Amino acid sequence: MPEDSMTIIDNRTGVSYTLPVKNGAIRAMDLRQIKTSPEDFGLIAYDPAFMNTASCESRITFIDGDKGILQYRGYPIDQLAEHCTYLETAWLVLNGELPTESQLEDWTCEIASHAAVPDDIPRILQGFRRDAHPMSVLASLVAALSSDYPEAKNVHDPAVRRLQIVRLLAQVPTLAAYAYRHSLGLPIVPPDPSLSYTENFLSMLWKKDEPNYQANPVLARALDVLFVLHADHEQNCSTNAMRAIGSSFADPYMTMAGAIAALSGPLHGGANEEVLKMLDEIGSSDHIPAYIRKVKSGECKLMGFGHRVYKNYDPRAGIIKRIAEQVFAVTGRNPKLDIAIALEKIALEDEYFVKRKLYPNVDFYSGIIYQAMGFQPEIFTVLFAIGRNAGWLAQWQELLADPAQKIARPRQVFLGSARREFVPLDQRGAAGAAAV
Ligand code: SDX
Repeated sequence: MPEDSMTIIDNRTGVSYTLPVKNGAIRAMDLRQIKTSPEDFGLIAYDPAFMNTASCESRITFIDGDKGILQYRGYPIDQLAEHCTYLETAWLVLNGELPTESQLEDWTCEIASHAAVPDDIPRILQGFRRDAHPMSVLASLVAALSSDYPEAKNVHDPAVRRLQIVRLLAQVPTLAAYAYRHSLGLPIVPPDPSLSYTENFLSMLWKKDEPNYQANPVLARALDVLFVLHADHEQNCSTNAMRAIGSSFADPYMTMAGAIAALSGPLHGGANEEVLKMLDEIGSSDHIPAYIRKVKSGECKLMGFGHRVYKNYDPRAGIIKRIAEQVFAVTGRNPKLDIAIALEKIALEDEYFVKRKLYPNVDFYSGIIYQAMGFQPEIFTVLFAIGRNAGWLAQWQELLADPAQKIARPRQVFLGSARREFVPLDQRGAAGAAAV
């Protein structure tokens, strides 16, 4: 009996099957041989929300949820946050190695040279209400780029793929800044290629009539590190969306629009905005016990807490907490940090959270920093998207290069009606189905 295998006995038939085990997994397709009769379709695995299902083999990001470990291409996240810029990290997750000095220099220039968006984008932007949520604007504008770059549909051409990756890394911050300026009724500020990636983003957001915008270097570096921390996170919900849509060979703009939509959900990237609303609702530390009671009664969730993979402290949350102090040294202390720290302390000592292994995740402290830096809560998830851009593209690229991948099309366990005959309208009586 091969060691890397397991034997399953089907008690319905008494037949035993030996399934190979590779990299800690069995192939779900190997279950299909398990039948009760020749007509039987064969066994499938039922796994709502993919709680225990690997959709792909990947070499980009490793997470050990029990130990709170996060590595991009083998490099620990705390070392990358300490020493890397976001563009350096983007190169790493996309290419598998840290760039050389000349590679990074050329990469930085190349991204800067593609930061301007096509002329139709400002016109499309004018069509949005002032109060349109920046995530819906960003998703729409990224999808609109699909019309500006029709060649992007050639997803199997490595040179075409690479050019779209450069354009998306370069232009998503521009689109984000344009959406923000539009929401404030301010004229858009074109990208400034003389500035670094994140300084240019801040300039497009906040430049007024000064000849050249000077970002505070501490804040620019803090935001760049936040982009590094958000760059990738293996098969999270929005990356799963990127892969599922990308598996149909849709172009990367339409594909990323779907990933942005997935990220906008309050259980995912939208949580950073919800954390600020939660802290506003709590109002002061002495109101925390009452709020914790609400959470434990199931009335609401403690936003920014819990994670599908981390059953320990999200390593990114710890780094973000340390960045907070650097930012507040410039901006002044955001009083919400004191409520958040008190909330974390109380929660981590409470049996409800301890039993469920609920710890602060990446979204718990990030919004507090963003707010201190002058960002409105509505743009917090857009900032998450700017960071995750590199990861989505790296995962999309890995998907297309993987010979084991095909169009994503899950099975189902059907529990609906058996075959029945059509009933003409005048014979349906009063019953009918309850309106949905
Ligand atoms: C991100 O996947 C990624 O990698 C995502 C991300 C990334 O970088 O891409 O890390 C970014 O999305 C971080 C998560 C941001 N979301 C939030 O902070 C929203 C609040 N968190 C929860 O909604 C929840 O923790 C999830 C969605 C993050 C994870 O949900 P799971 O894995 O489906 O867990 P679950 O809902 O089944 O919870 C298990 C138990 C339940 O209680 P019981 O039914 O067992 O009694 O824990 C409870 C849940 O009710 N629970 C919470 C809770 N999270 C889980 N209870 C209160 N507050 C919470 N936040």
